Amino acid sequence: MPTTDGYNLSSMQNDLVPLMYAMHYIGLCLGIGLLGGVLRFILSHSSKTRQQTNLPPIIPIPDDQIYSNPREAYENAFKVSGSHVVGVKKKGRNFYFELEFIVDDTLLHDVLTNNQAFNFQDGVMTLLNMKFLNDSFTDYFARHDDLVRNAIVNRMPFVINQVFPVFMKNAEKLMREVNSNQRKHVDALEFFHYSLCEAMTKVILGGGLYEGFLEQKEVIGPAIWRKLTSGHRSQAAEEESFADSEGSVLDYLTCKYASGTENVGLQTFLKISGLISGNFFAAIHITSTVSVWVLFELSRRPELVSVLREELTTLVDIPASGKELPVLSYEVVQNAKILDSFIREVLRTKGDILSVCRMIRNDVRLDGYDLPKDHLIFGLTTLLHLSPKYQGSDASEIKYDRWVLTNKSAATIGKSYLSFGLGRWACPGRALAIAEIKMLIWSIICRATPVLEGGSYDIVDRLEITARAPRGKLVLVPYST
Ligand code: HEM
Repeated sequence: MPTTDGYNLSSMQNDLVPLMYAMHYIGLCLGIGLLGGVLRFILSHSSKTRQQTNLPPIIPIPDDQIYSNPREAYENAFKVSGSHVVGVKKKGRNFYFELEFIVDDTLLHDVLTNNQAFNFQDGVMTLLNMKFLNDSFTDYFARHDDLVRNAIVNRMPFVINQVFPVFMKNAEKLMREVNSNQRKHVDALEFFHYSLCEAMTKVILGGGLYEGFLEQKEVIGPAIWRKLTSGHRSQAAEEESFADSEGSVLDYLTCKYASGTENVGLQTFLKISGLISGNFFAAIHITSTVSVWVLFELSRRPELVSVLREELTTLVDIPASGKELPVLSYEVVQNAKILDSFIREVLRTKGDILSVCRMIRNDVRLDGYDLPKDHLIFGLTTLLHLSPKYQGSDASEIKYDRWVLTNKSAATIGKSYLSFGLGRWACPGRALAIAEIKMLIWSIICRATPVLEGGSYDIVDRLEITARAPRGKLVLVPYST
């Protein structure tokens, strides 16, 4: 049939037929391929879950309930199922095959201490969305653990001497700003972050490098590189006698990973820098956030501020002017039992709902159910921390002196106190964290009385309590003896 533009449409159509068939065929293949891909994706995520006929009860919890009242939402899941382990949809995901598992108080201890079945490193890397790096970081957590224990916690008296003057100096500066009306409301998180960051820089880099670092405001990488390639390297202490030395964390890492006279390569530099970055990450943020929780809860208890001041003055003579910085021994920090008990109470009652996590290593049987490998498993800590069964009838209250006459300090972990985890991977930095929180609180209350405007604060994220500090209008009312 002729067409207006002179082409024969039907012959053109005939010419196009093979092409159209080919296109259909390719389209069909692509479609099947795509469908296959999608199915494979779904199956790869759900195959284990689907194959399991003996999964724990899977409880649907809408996201809005998880975010608005996670404690009630998860505790209800146990109530309705009557089980000690439940499966729930991953937070913020749409598909029910994307499961994670939660255990109650009766199974928590087994999950946290059975490292064969439940893996700490895989769990953390997955939570941080960094699982793809897992193979390159095989020993990372063991090395980091070694660093915290040997270079920091084994030398607490020395570390305290380094840290406390930094806190006092910064608190004095903050109060100068408050007194000169430069600030009405104080951002406690910013103050704690800054002070901890400066203190950790001092502990990590050591004298000399730290001062230079502060003055020149440089990034930390070049300072590490200079140390590794300079004569300072040969002065690094021996690993065996490091506990008694006054060396920095960098000295420890240098003698551990870059001793000898040969040139330090990029690999060693990256290894050491990676450990130092991880240490900043682990040591600063959570400690700052918990310090805000402690300070805000303290602000709501003016009578406790006086009690803590009294406790401090029985232990050490801190001048209100702060001009002369007292030498504070680790013994003094440890002997502050009332403050310690209060911090434990804040961690117990305000800690994370799901504070501990592991990855299921291989298919495993737990409490009569089969849990598929490569899924995350969490413990619902509130069932321990806020339960009358473990804490007494007034479990939900903050009773500041609850632990004073016990041998349970804020850093003493145990089956009914999991703020620092449990087992092989329990937080190695907990003694430092508690000591720092005490010193930060002292640096403030020896100069000011913390008051929350309106007497209350807002919880920013009920699911990430130790990651997100509460928000409130904090006023520091100057105080002198
Ligand atoms: C109040 C502050 C802190 C809290 C609430 C806290 C809490 C925790 C928790 C819950 C874990 C996981 C334990 C488990 O799953 O069994 C952990 C691990 C860890 N924390 Fe902390 N932490 C704090 C401060 C610190 C500080 C100051 C450091 C370092 C100086 C640190 C270093 C680490 C490291 C390296 C790990 C990994 C586990 C290991 O290497 O053994 N944390 N922490």
